[in-house]
Amino acid sequence: MRPRIGLVGLGYWGPNLARNFDELADLTWLCDASEAKQAEFAPRYPGARMTGDLDELLADDSLDAVVIATPVPTHHALARRALGAGKHVLVEKPPAMRAAEMDELVAIAAARDLVLMPGHLLLYHPGVQKLKELIDAGELGEVLCVYGNRLNLGIVRTNENALWSLGVHDLSVILHLLDEEPTEAVAYGRDFLTDGVEDVVFCHLSFPSGKIAHMHLSWLDPHKMRRMTVVGRDKMAVFDDMELERKVTIYDKAPWKRAETYGEWQTRSGDIHIPKISTSEPLRLECEHFLELVSGAGDRLKVARDGAMVVRALERLTDSLRG
Ligand SMILES: NC(=O)c1ccc[n+]([C@@H]2O[C@H](COP(=O)([O-])OP(=O)(O)OC[C@H]3O[C@@H](n4cnc5c(N)ncnc54)[C@H](O)[C@@H]3O)[C@@H](O)[C@H]2O)c1
Repeated sequence: MRPRIGLVGLGYWGPNLARNFDELADLTWLCDASEAKQAEFAPRYPGARMTGDLDELLADDSLDAVVIATPVPTHHALARRALGAGKHVLVEKPPAMRAAEMDELVAIAAARDLVLMPGHLLLYHPGVQKLKELIDAGELGEVLCVYGNRLNLGIVRTNENALWSLGVHDLSVILHLLDEEPTEAVAYGRDFLTDGVEDVVFCHLSFPSGKIAHMHLSWLDPHKMRRMTVVGRDKMAVFDDMELERKVTIYDKAPWKRAETYGEWQTRSGDIHIPKISTSEPLRLECEHFLELVSGAGDRLKVARDGAMVVRALERLTDSLRG
């Protein structure tokens, strides 16, 4: 039987989740606090019951899972209520604003054997999955550093800074690629346009293995970049989401030492390789992964624990920014 899903939040992002879950599962409930949103979406999903009250979904014993796409400050409380009612939860990123709140969600999910999956969309991007595959297969050699650039002279947000609006994506990718908890997480930034909302943020992370990472996040920049670079001892790889056909480029470039030159560093520049990257919709893959976990396949606690690592790093970067 297909899992029965309830979706909370029909603003900008929720409708994308509604479309996917309507195709992949039984979308039996929709919920939004706004009556205008309820009126807009009820005719599109006649098979789903509509409400403004989460408790109505939670009282339905036949409902398997709740998908939360409401504003970030509401995530923790809504996810807590849904897990408390015994529902599996997919919650947009980040599921909580403080590490202690996330730990609480992970503990409830673990105790009740429920899925708690943060909606880290980029982890399902086939380009990011290719980077992970290259790293895990040892193709790049030992990874030394990773850095992300998410820049644009774009939407100037006034309620969420560049770290929270743009950085959560890159942070989730960096931690996923390196699979390590940072020992150091430092951020510098400035609120040039709106008081208290940093438009330009630089972050530094270092890891127990000696790897380092950097993120440059800004909507005050001449470049439009969504790029992640991985530097390995043997090869280097770049995921560039602005590119249409060369999402991932692998550079067979590296420094090396020739014995007869008394240990001086030489550089080697070999082929540049552009692997084929699937055009599958990342959100589709994310929803499919959630449904797999709900069905009992895979390690359901791993996504929750990985999500907690992102929230912990985000909390440290935020504290450092405000320092
Ligand atoms: N993965 C991605 O790439 C991506 C992209 C955009 C947004 N998001 C995430 O999706 C979430 C929603 O963002 P958005 O831009 O759609 O926001 P939005 O403000 O457009 O929509 C939020 C909706 O939630 C409803 N809502 C708020 N509180 C509620 C409650 N307690 N109960 C029921 N409904 C409630 C609002 O009425 C509104 O319709 C955020 O967490 C955001 O970070 C993710």
